[in-house]
Amino acid sequence: MEELIDEKIELAKTLPSKYYLDEKIFKKIKSKISLMWHFSAHENQLSDKNIVPIKHSKKLMNESIVLTRDGVIRSLSNVCSHRGMIINTESTKSNVLKCKYHGRTFDLKGCMKNMPKFDHVMDFPNDSDNLKCFSTIRWKGLLFTSLKEISTPGWIEFLEDRMGWLDIEAFVHDSEYYKSYNINANWALYVDNYLEGFHIPYVHSDLNEVLSYEDYETEIFENGVLQIGIAKDDEDSFDLPKISKDYGKKIAAYYFWIFPGLMLNFYPWGLSVNLVVPTSVNKTEIIYQRYIADASLIGEGAGGDLDKVEREDQEIVEAVQIGVSSSSYDRGRYSPSMEKGVHHFHRILTKI
Ligand code: FES
Ligand SMILES: [Fe+2]
Repeated sequence: MEELIDEKIELAKTLPSKYYLDEKIFKKIKSKISLMWHFSAHENQLSDKNIVPIKHSKKLMNESIVLTRDGVIRSLSNVCSHRGMIINTESTKSNVLKCKYHGRTFDLKGCMKNMPKFDHVMDFPNDSDNLKCFSTIRWKGLLFTSLKEISTPGWIEFLEDRMGWLDIEAFVHDSEYYKSYNINANWALYVDNYLEGFHIPYVHSDLNEVLSYEDYETEIFENGVLQIGIAKDDEDSFDLPKISKDYGKKIAAYYFWIFPGLMLNFYPWGLSVNLVVPTSVNKTEIIYQRYIADASLIGEGAGGDLDKVEREDQEIVEAVQIGVSSSSYDRGRYSPSMEKGVHHFHRILTKI
């Protein structure tokens, strides 16, 4: 059967505009992607607290999730098994999760421990009174949760191969920093834009001063894309060890994207985690959190003024949303040298 997005980028046409406009397509895609692996937190967020509700899980997975830590870290349903109250709204340290509504308690594994005024209830408690436990995986301190998947995703191996040398476990969560942007565009347009450095000289004048456009690199892997920004001469770059695949290069930033909307942007100062939340067919929320390796480097190089770069991107993406709704536009073509990340994304999106 002919594929909607041809495997050969030289032949392929871009994503049809209905993907950015059609409510039904949006809903179908959103329900499928809600079941995939999603970033939940860095384990550093569970160092002094052991019960940490994940604010964005409801938006991304349509599920309220709380992380708990005893010996292990678990992703539990944050919904009380009695009458559905949200149990934890703030991070805390405790041996029990206690529902504020009628006082039901659970241990850190999600087992119901106590319920007031339930003495004569028959067949109680049973399994359905415990909190549901979802799959959790950990890579170098980063925690991912899935409502359905249980096998380790292939992209972990790629990340490990590329960034295994970096002490991400030691990064510290910046609890003061949580940014949320709401934009008037479909989430896939935001991802399209992220996946190419083609627009940098046209859209990001300051970033263009720092990165060498000609040396910008894009690699694709299972369910993901890596873009590498090479620093211009005396701009900030990673001090790469010999074990790094990129040893000898002047790398200003590693931009990893994992399907559907996870962006792990590594800079010499640390890691910016950006989450793309599809809100509706033409509304998207972008959440920024950050994890710091060296606070003295914040504000420098390619990871410097991220707010400005974000505003520039959003302006473009909102204009494209208007453009793709035009009756005179349906699909375009790809630049084989500059848009292979976008092409890879469109192929994944049209096959889920
Ligand atoms: S809803 Fe939680 S105890 Fe009633
Ligand atoms: Fe951009």
